[in-house]
Amino acid sequence: MATERIIAPTASPIEEHKNWALRPQSIDEYIGQPELIERLLIAIEAVKARQSAKDDTEPREHLEHVLLHGPPGLGKTTLAHVIGAELGTNVHVTSGPALARGTDLVAVLTRLQPGDVLFIDEIHRLPVAVEEFVYPAMEDFKIDVCLDTGLNARTVQIKCAPFTLIGATTRAGLLSSPMRSRFGITHHLRFYDEQDLVHILDRSASLLSMGTCERDTMSRIASRSRGTPRIANRLLRRVRDYAAVRANGQLSTGIVDEALTLEGVDALGLDDLDRNYLRTIRNVYDGGPVGLEAIAATLNEDAGTLEDVVEPYLLQIGFLARTRRGRMMTQRACEHLKLPTLVPTEEKPLTEPATGLF
Ligand SMILES: Nc1ncnc2c1ncn2[C@@H]1O[C@H](COP(=O)(O)OP(=O)(O)O)[C@@H](O)[C@H]1O
Ligand SMILES: [Mg+2]
Repeated sequence: MATERIIAPTASPIEEHKNWALRPQSIDEYIGQPELIERLLIAIEAVKARQSAKDDTEPREHLEHVLLHGPPGLGKTTLAHVIGAELGTNVHVTSGPALARGTDLVAVLTRLQPGDVLFIDEIHRLPVAVEEFVYPAMEDFKIDVCLDTGLNARTVQIKCAPFTLIGATTRAGLLSSPMRSRFGITHHLRFYDEQDLVHILDRSASLLSMGTCERDTMSRIASRSRGTPRIANRLLRRVRDYAAVRANGQLSTGIVDEALTLEGVDALGLDDLDRNYLRTIRNVYDGGPVGLEAIAATLNEDAGTLEDVVEPYLLQIGFLARTRRGRMMTQRACEHLKLPTLVPTEEKPLTEPATGLF
């Protein structure tokens, strides 16, 4: 059962289109993720300096390959475009599942101009057969293609322009280690704090030509956005529609509360799926530990979806712990949902977080 959620961190193609206007275009419009931005600014500046020291006959400089990982909606795709804009190069967009065969990759690589950015979304879904073509392309900017079979088999080497691969993934743990090791810059995107989200919302509100609103209105939306810009923008649009119909377009904290309560989003940004997930652990499995597959089966949801879109935020706010024997909900989650408190067990949570397995 695929559940439509207002707080889903993933986006439909229609929403992606709406978001396009709200996307930061340059690196100084990109809000938050200061460490990542700092690292990228240094790398980009160094490339530009090397480039300007060269004359036109020498091959163009390119940025190291970049791997961005983290939950959906945190700005990975946005960043790939921003990097391209900063470098002044084209950005070619594709995704792991779209590159089904080695020849698909050849077609993409041969279109690249020197210094271009190739963005591969969901890079963890790249088929193994294609991955093997990617390695030499990343390292030496060439691919060996095998023509014919049996006795007639011969390999042809195809060269491509030096380029920068930007890979994005929600599941860094699924990436093979040879793949990971070929990226020069690897960064885990973090959830945004409320201040950054308010900043993003203010920017979006002015791009959407929304008038001024009561103080704290934006922080009320931000605190329900699960640290995710895509959700913040979506809630803003929903609240704007509600205000247009019920309050002559005037946004206020009261209107935010009314609009989002109507959508089933609570003060922490949890919705029915989060609450059902936690209630299942509490009521069916006595608070855990319980395996993800068992929860998914009880909820009739896909385990991968739960892992990608429900668990990261619950882990982040300390409502869920991952232990060696499975998921456990915490006392705080019980209090928030007003469920009976848990009997403590001696199980120790694993130290590493659910995402960012580096
Ligand atoms: N750092 C940011 N500053 C401002 N807006 C952002 C930022 N990161 C993301 N957004 C907004 O969130 C939306 C989703 O970001 P996107 O790059 O598509 O996420 P991802 O590729 O990680 O799923 C974008 O359309 C953009 O409007
Ligand atoms: Mg994306």
